[in-house]
Amino acid sequence: MKPLTDFRTDTVTRPTAEMLAAMQAATQGDDSRDGDPTVIKLEALAAARTGKEAGLYMPSGTMTNLVAVLAHTSRAGEVLLERGAHMLNTELGGLAAVAGVFYKAIPGSRGAMDEAALREAVRPMTRNNFGTALICMENTHNGAGGAVLPLAHMQMVYELARRHGIPVHTDGARLFNAAVALGVSAAEIARHTDSVSFCVSKGLSAPIGSVLCGSRDFIERARPFRRMVGGNMRQAGSIAAAGIVALETMVDRLKDDHATARRLAAGLHGVNATLVNQAEVETNIVRVSVRASGRNATQWAEEFAQRGIAVSPADSASLRFVTHRHISNNDVDAAVSACTEIWRKR
Ligand SMILES: Cc1ncc(COP(=O)(O)O)c(C=O)c1O
Repeated sequence: MKPLTDFRTDTVTRPTAEMLAAMQAATQGDDSRDGDPTVIKLEALAAARTGKEAGLYMPSGTMTNLVAVLAHTSRAGEVLLERGAHMLNTELGGLAAVAGVFYKAIPGSRGAMDEAALREAVRPMTRNNFGTALICMENTHNGAGGAVLPLAHMQMVYELARRHGIPVHTDGARLFNAAVALGVSAAEIARHTDSVSFCVSKGLSAPIGSVLCGSRDFIERARPFRRMVGGNMRQAGSIAAAGIVALETMVDRLKDDHATARRLAAGLHGVNATLVNQAEVETNIVRVSVRASGRNATQWAEEFAQRGIAVSPADSASLRFVTHRHISNNDVDAAVSACTEIWRKR
């Protein structure tokens, strides 16, 4: 059977030949015990790219977010995040269950928190209240279909937080998609946050890993928490090597993924205008509303699977397509043809 064309996520991207060669040639130090030169090089590169002083390599974006919360809050207080945030909806309650903090979901639009609601939610520490310990942003915003947070919004949030002495963390799992879409450096985005984490394992094609970046002091506070949650690795140089190649060679090509996403959105919009709002496709994620078809997202995903196309339901009435290095224009056109058939069959 023909392998599925996989639009479910960009984490399915496989390492490049250059990555595999770098992995084989990598140093084999024990990162947990003495430090490993390749991991140290990746962390320094990540810090330089985000304009921060230091970086800390971990196996996943879920872990870098969790460790960031632990290091910023020391397990007390309330965390404010946009209500569709990945940290709130998809990381299985780690904020509360592991980091021991409360959280408040702030209403937002396209992943950006409503300013008035955020101002109202910020609370000082009082006799009977821990107060706001951390504000988090997400850029690009997965739940909002890969939306890019405007820099002015990030600046507003950061200034507000600083006035209240509250730290800010940004979940930048797809930070480089945001940078490419905005035409700025990742550091230009990360100026508006104390810490930022990004994944090398998504569109950047490395097999494993995420880096948390921030001040040297913050990263030293984060280290024991990384160990606490089981994130200390041993001969991690062999995977960090792929992360270095990812940062050095795979960032500029993300624009190609954004172009295939726009092509897909235009094609699906041509099948029926209710399916996609093309203006909302800013990076490599395309949200498709199947509500008007009278069938739910699971039924649509099954129909696509029968035609060799894997796609995830995002909720009961919408699908999420993610473009990446292994999705070509031909794959996009095949998905649009499949959609035409499915739409006609409804
Ligand atoms: C916005 C966002 N944050 C964090 C993560 C978690 O990354 P990981 O799968 O490496 O734990 C993801 C994964 O898709 C994500 O989209």
